[in-house]
Amino acid sequence: MPALEEMSAFFNGRAPQYDRVHTGHIGGGIESKRVIASFLPARTKTLVDLGIGTGLELEAILQRFPGIEITGFDIAENMLRLLGEKYPSQKIRLLCENYLEYDLGDGLYDAALSVMTLHHYTHDVKTALYRKIRRCVRPGGVYIECDYMLSENDCEDAQKQEDMHFAEYERLKNEQGITDNREYHYDTPCTVTNQIKMLCAAGFTGVRKIWQTGNTVILIARK
Ligand SMILES: C[S@@+](CC[C@H](N)C(=O)[O-])C[C@H]1O[C@@H](n2cnc3c(N)ncnc32)[C@H](O)[C@@H]1O
Repeated sequence: MPALEEMSAFFNGRAPQYDRVHTGHIGGGIESKRVIASFLPARTKTLVDLGIGTGLELEAILQRFPGIEITGFDIAENMLRLLGEKYPSQKIRLLCENYLEYDLGDGLYDAALSVMTLHHYTHDVKTALYRKIRRCVRPGGVYIECDYMLSENDCEDAQKQEDMHFAEYERLKNEQGITDNREYHYDTPCTVTNQIKMLCAAGFTGVRKIWQTGNTVILIARK
């Protein structure tokens, strides 16, 4: 196993090939990004996107909601630079920040979105983030998460697989002498059931799966 890479270094280094490589290996490919726009409420005027990367999910969103105001967070500046080149004239505020540490505010957005960014984090880290996300959307607003998840419909041992990913990540960190609290790039997908539990624990209601192709699952949650 190659050395674990710190999260921003991983994505900064892969930014030039990211769009092609990423859409080539995820379930649903580019369709998994395009379909997200159709799940946003018709009245959406403000959106926060956590781990926005190069903005693959934005093309369909900007088409359906011309004039939408988007705030995007990402820790990899090279990903954000490519996004800026793709959509130079749109109302997109980009923040090169760690969304786990940043205060996302209170009631600022009609909708919050995260796409393929949270499958690197533990239950505790995600549940704390979901609380912040719930706080930053307006009452009646929605949170949509599109991510790599383990579906119990497809594999009986989804929980076992989740446990195995987390255990392997810990083993690698120990083996490589990593003791700091920085984020490293290693996939630790969670089961759909656990995802739904975490969102409910953070106070969201009406949490449900709305789309799935392969391991790419979209969940919606309401404030
Ligand atoms: C697989 S990419 C997804 C990009 C885009 N949302 C998409 O679906 O194509 C994951 C992105 O999340 C960002 N990311 C991961 N952890 C982050 C954190 N804690 N704070 C901000 N950005 C983060 C990475 O830098 C990377 O650009």
